[in-house]
Amino acid sequence: MGFYTQQVLPRLVDKACATESVGKWRAKVLAGLVGVVVEPGFGSGSNLPYFPPEVTKVYAIDPATLGRKLAGDRLEASAIEVEFVGLDGQQIPLDDNSCDGAALTFTLCTIPDPDVALAELRRVIKPGGAVHFVEHGLADDPSMQKWQFRIDPVQKRLFGGCHVSRDHGSLLTDAGFEIDWIEREYASGPKAWSFYHLGRAAELAATAKSAVRGSQRSSDERSAGILVDQLGEPCGIV
Ligand SMILES: C[S@@+](CC[C@H](N)C(=O)[O-])C[C@H]1O[C@@H](n2cnc3c(N)ncnc32)[C@H](O)[C@@H]1O
Repeated sequence: MGFYTQQVLPRLVDKACATESVGKWRAKVLAGLVGVVVEPGFGSGSNLPYFPPEVTKVYAIDPATLGRKLAGDRLEASAIEVEFVGLDGQQIPLDDNSCDGAALTFTLCTIPDPDVALAELRRVIKPGGAVHFVEHGLADDPSMQKWQFRIDPVQKRLFGGCHVSRDHGSLLTDAGFEIDWIEREYASGPKAWSFYHLGRAAELAATAKSAVRGSQRSSDERSAGILVDQLGEPCGIV
């Protein structure tokens, strides 16, 4: 990771994402989490004030280690034990079925291979647990989608790999999670960046895991209806 991604971006994210208005979305999606939670993209701990009191421990994962320092006050103020266990949500150094749930907030948009990260979450979350998520992603209206596909190549360069055109509900169901509830709506801010997907996606019973994995579509199959440019980046929908 370069200087910008390691030193500048975490500070920008800390300022932009720790506002009261974003906090309302966090509180809404984190409700219902209990016990031990894994959080890929822990960042600077902006979720800590919003976890319900039933959450006792958070396993934090993030490649930008400056976030740990920026999280100082939130760590001190929180009753939750936070253990930093890794740098990459695509390789979670935890045992199978070791977590009661997961928090994903504005992170699945950035992880290079979301399919791999979600397979890892399925592995570490106990049956009956769930991923609680709020992400910005693909809008419902085709005219806005067109802009999002145009913006993505630049967005990725400027914001550490962040995409504005990912469809998080589809990513979760294709990974074998079952959507309990999902809302898709505009938050405040520039529209291409502010179409939120939020909800709760449950890990299925252990017996169903292999069956679901067997029927998963590959990334290529999933993007069959999506036009890609010469670099293989999405640029429209057929
Ligand atoms: C937009 S920030 C969101 C931070 C935090 N989740 C929040 O809600 O404020 C995206 C975060 O994902 C992290 N990230 C990027 N690649 C990652 C990966 N492969 N695994 C885990 N986290 C990653 C970034 O370092 C950054 O902290």
